[in-house]
Amino acid sequence: MDSAATSQSAAGANAKDATLIYRQSRWTRLTHWLWAISLFFMLLSGLQIFNARPQLYIGKQSGFGFNNTILEIGAENTNNGPRGFTAIFGHRFDTTGVLGWSGPPGQETPRAFPSWATIPSYYDLGTARVVHFFFAWILTTTLLVWLIAGLVNGHIRRDLAPRLDDLKRLPRDVIDHAKLKFHHTREYNTLQKMAYGGVLFVLLPLMIITGLAMSPSMDSVLPWLNEVLGGRQTARSIHFTVMVLLVLFFIVHILMILAAGPINELRSIITGWYRTDPPAKHAEPTERSA
Ligand code: HEM
Repeated sequence: MDSAATSQSAAGANAKDATLIYRQSRWTRLTHWLWAISLFFMLLSGLQIFNARPQLYIGKQSGFGFNNTILEIGAENTNNGPRGFTAIFGHRFDTTGVLGWSGPPGQETPRAFPSWATIPSYYDLGTARVVHFFFAWILTTTLLVWLIAGLVNGHIRRDLAPRLDDLKRLPRDVIDHAKLKFHHTREYNTLQKMAYGGVLFVLLPLMIITGLAMSPSMDSVLPWLNEVLGGRQTARSIHFTVMVLLVLFFIVHILMILAAGPINELRSIITGWYRTDPPAKHAEPTERSA
């Protein structure tokens, strides 16, 4: 290789490296993986706890004589043998094989969530509660660490706080996402800010608050909590709904990461380094840069 070619490729490499920026602080990365792991164990142990009473209610009473059930998963005998069902607000769906009645062929049993979706896979409420509460405290501590670090190092103000400009960008961001057109910039786009902010400031705190409201030991410490949330049964229904929303967020989160370039995205949330789009060659004033 002659010297001109060498210097040309070196210049090319430098230009390429110039697009590599340090985007995620160690606190963001550490807390991200701690809550991802905690939520994984909390989801599977939570489904095991739910299996002990696979109904959800709204209001302060439950049981015989009241019809305040909003969700029920169960099994029933039919002319075609036992079937699993899920009833949501009175609408019944046959969910045999997954919800209500599941297991290996010939060894099916009545259980709300199947054994592959619970921790432990067999019925053991005691172990599930120990796992659930252990990771609940890890999640709560992690969220507090994230909040303090994010306030101190400016991550929350710089990357997540909504600005007027975000509102103007929203239609453009929606169109870009629909077309799977992603811009790799230092800043989060409006939809990312909404999704991450929604998870960190709404869903996770609500999950923790409704979890605390369900705990009988909290009655003496925060007696008003149960009252504010409409009773223990309503708190349980909100807790379950937040779980469903977090699972939906997770699915979309993973799809977006795959679509935006998984290597670059994963590198940023593991090492902090992120490759941004190279600056446009013939930078013309655009609506955004103007
Ligand atoms: C329950 C699981 C998860 C939750 C609740 C979650 C939530 C979040 C949140 C709130 C952020 C923004 C963090 C901040 O700016 O402070 C984020 C960023 C990120 N997450 Fe997750 N995450 C989860 C799992 C995962 C998994 C499994 C992966 C990888 C396969 C992943 C990859 C990423 C990446 C790459 C970013 C940075 C996105 C960017 O910089 O554009 N996440 N996640």
